[in-house]
Amino acid sequence: MKALVLAGGLGTRLRPLTHTFAKQLVPVANRPVLFYGLEAIASAGVREVGLVVGAGAREIRAAVGDGSAFGLRVAYLPQETPLGLAHAVLIAREWLGDDDFVMYLGDNFIQDGIDQMVDDFRAGEADAQVLLARVPDPTAFGVAEVGADGRVTALEEKPERPRSDLALVGAYVFTPAVHDAVRAIRPSARGELEITDALGLLVGTGRVVRATRLTGYWKDTGSAVGMLEVNRTVLDTSRARTEGEVDDSSELVGQVVVERGARVLNSRIVGPAVIGARSVISDSHIGPYASIAEGCQVRHSEIEDSIVLTGARLEGVRRVESSLIGREVMVTSARRRPVAHQLILGDHSQVHV
Ligand code: G1P
Repeated sequence: MKALVLAGGLGTRLRPLTHTFAKQLVPVANRPVLFYGLEAIASAGVREVGLVVGAGAREIRAAVGDGSAFGLRVAYLPQETPLGLAHAVLIAREWLGDDDFVMYLGDNFIQDGIDQMVDDFRAGEADAQVLLARVPDPTAFGVAEVGADGRVTALEEKPERPRSDLALVGAYVFTPAVHDAVRAIRPSARGELEITDALGLLVGTGRVVRATRLTGYWKDTGSAVGMLEVNRTVLDTSRARTEGEVDDSSELVGQVVVERGARVLNSRIVGPAVIGARSVISDSHIGPYASIAEGCQVRHSEIEDSIVLTGARLEGVRRVESSLIGREVMVTSARRRPVAHQLILGDHSQVHV
């Protein structure tokens, strides 16, 4: 069995970060969200991974490499334009050969992984296996109807009037039967080749599509709110560890990780929180639920429930909350009168003052 991991896509809901950065690399507790998916695939016993990459190809290659760090062998499959999930299967046709494969959406975080779904598939004789979770608002997802025997009877992508509350989670298992289906479907109203339509065609032509029910935590991290929620969830499972320096006038409360080479000076850090390698925190209050990446500087500031990317600087800013701060970003307090907001923001930035 192989795995096709989708990391193309434009990440429009995470702009401006995604103007220069693949959304699958946004860190959650200081690790790219994509890494959790690759670990889930390795845990399910799959070794061969085809990583479908678009605009963020170069950085994803630099982060994942040949996959050996995850116990995987990773091949890169370029997708010039993101034309839908089923389009990714089309362009991967040759690499997939006639193997069964897991398809995993690189921006999905599935806390319990995909072991159960892959086990269910291996134990049965389905042509495809999907992972379903109950959601409060099914209109934002692909939605499935399932019979008492666990067989999927109908599917619809983002229906206006959903006929069930079972959403398709971003992980699937396919047999080669899917290849005819992805060739037969036409683009949807949003102009994409939908994998939900390919699954619907399988069901409509008498193929067996089975469902695994997911009860654990899961999130499509495509938005800032989603990212912050996953960050809190992962931080909640972290264990206190200090590899950097913490001076005597600082206090660490609860699950705080201070990575190698980081320095905490005259500051209070309330866990769960992580301070990345070589970051300097001084005269500040951090956390709970703050992930500060490597090489950051936080001085005379307060920040909680936020993700701060590599090399960012915060100086003299009180109470930053629910924020996503990009690489090398600088946030400082005004030094001269009049005290005004002076903003130099990239395209699609969002500021709430
Ligand atoms: C895609 C699928 C949808 C699925 C969702 C899970 O949606 O089309 O069926 O429920 O992923 O994250 P998209 O993120 O492309 O809107």
